[in-house]
Amino acid sequence: MSSASSVIRVGLLGCGTVGGGVVQLLRAKATYLEARLGAPIEIASVLVRDPGKERVPELDRKKLTSNPDDVLGDASIDVVVEVMGGLEPARTLVTRALDAGRQVVTANKMLLAHHGAELLERAAARGVDLAFEGAVGGGIPVIRVLRDSLASDTIESISGIVNGTSNYVLTRMQKEGLSFDEVVKAAQALGYAEADPTLDVGGGDAAHKLAVLAMLAFGARLDGVKVPTEGIDTLEPLDHVFADRFGFVVKQLAVARDRGAAIELRVHPALIAKDAPLANINGVLNAIALEGRALGPCLLSGRGAGDMPTAVSVVADVVDVANARRSGASGRMTRAMKLTPRALAPMDDVETRYYFRFSVFDRPGVLAKITGALGERGVSIEQMVQQGRGTGDVPVDVVILTHESREASVQAALAAIAREGFVARPPRMIRVHG
Ligand code: NAP
Ligand code: HSE
Repeated sequence: MSSASSVIRVGLLGCGTVGGGVVQLLRAKATYLEARLGAPIEIASVLVRDPGKERVPELDRKKLTSNPDDVLGDASIDVVVEVMGGLEPARTLVTRALDAGRQVVTANKMLLAHHGAELLERAAARGVDLAFEGAVGGGIPVIRVLRDSLASDTIESISGIVNGTSNYVLTRMQKEGLSFDEVVKAAQALGYAEADPTLDVGGGDAAHKLAVLAMLAFGARLDGVKVPTEGIDTLEPLDHVFADRFGFVVKQLAVARDRGAAIELRVHPALIAKDAPLANINGVLNAIALEGRALGPCLLSGRGAGDMPTAVSVVADVVDVANARRSGASGRMTRAMKLTPRALAPMDDVETRYYFRFSVFDRPGVLAKITGALGERGVSIEQMVQQGRGTGDVPVDVVILTHESREASVQAALAAIAREGFVARPPRMIRVHG
């Protein structure tokens, strides 16, 4: 498309939950978008696996194809939108689109976490843009905020609830006492969950999003980085009960800190004080707390998954990259994202407060051994509770909250305690945030 062309032609790679939302929004907002861009947006072709499947009624079914060449070989297409997910064939198709000089939009955080730097550098070299607002936080414009609004600031840390499925599952389990499996099924039915929902509840999806945020916030080349990750699938109802008793709620948290020499990245369940803003982000809502050196704290919140919230972000990107193309500024936004390799800080160096739950046989001297193992390694106790009395082979729960401690010391103490004969099962540990 040149500045003189009269139509903006879009090729869609995928038309499932998010792609369907994009088709609907492009139709619903057609008049406004045309006024905004000075040309109408037209869907040229739509790649899917099964063209026979039912789709949103707004889609002209004649545009459906299962042949990637119908989209990537069409020189009249201006913008390619990748909403198919996964690494392949998405990586190959996005690469082809960039090489052919197309503006590209993707919502695929897995692809970006593995190949984001490579694809951004490729786009910059070809003089085109790769935009990805839909990849993190669903409808929350966090990518734009990091890339544009806070471009003059230095981001020091990010703490986020970035997986809608996990937050939805934790919230309904906490508030309604529903079972884990039951709520995961509901999240799938609502279109929140990934094709493989273990990516959501196991923390992998949040780790992908954290890598994307850190790439942008810290200018870090992080392709394929292994983010230390723990999921919500190992939490037990009793942990919610004890968290509540100590004044916390359990949330699945993604944390990134620029520590100068290295970047700290981690995803895990965390105890958050009940009155903290992140503790009150419930259901499918996501929230991302940014700390800028100049700005200070900034909290962004909104619906983090689902067809329409994500489609809002994808369409915003389509408008941006189409605008850039029409004004002869393709590639400028992407070229500005300079990425350099950054080391990952070892998890052993993390310092925070900790919650432990020990399931132990109730014998004299057990508490002394637990506190001794912690004390010997410099882990100081803030509070301790024993719930009831164990009898015979029935263990009792001992819960401990620590002061700020070093992860390496905590892991060494837990390993030593786990070897004791009085321990009925491996100790549970949850980090405390804030
Ligand atoms: P989805 O519902 O499974 O849709 C995927 C679409 O891609 C389907 O139309 C599918 O075709 C097509 N597709 C997949 N593999 C293909 C292949 N090899 N060849 C041709 N077509 C293929 O997924 P989604 O939930 O929309 O997610 C799409 C992307 O957006 C993912 O990267 C996801 O992580 C991301 N995202 C999702 C959400 C959300 O809330 N769902 C939010 C933010 C970001 P068929 O329809 O024929 O099967
Ligand atoms: N499966 C993801 C989630 C979709 O639940 O947050 C949004 O990226």
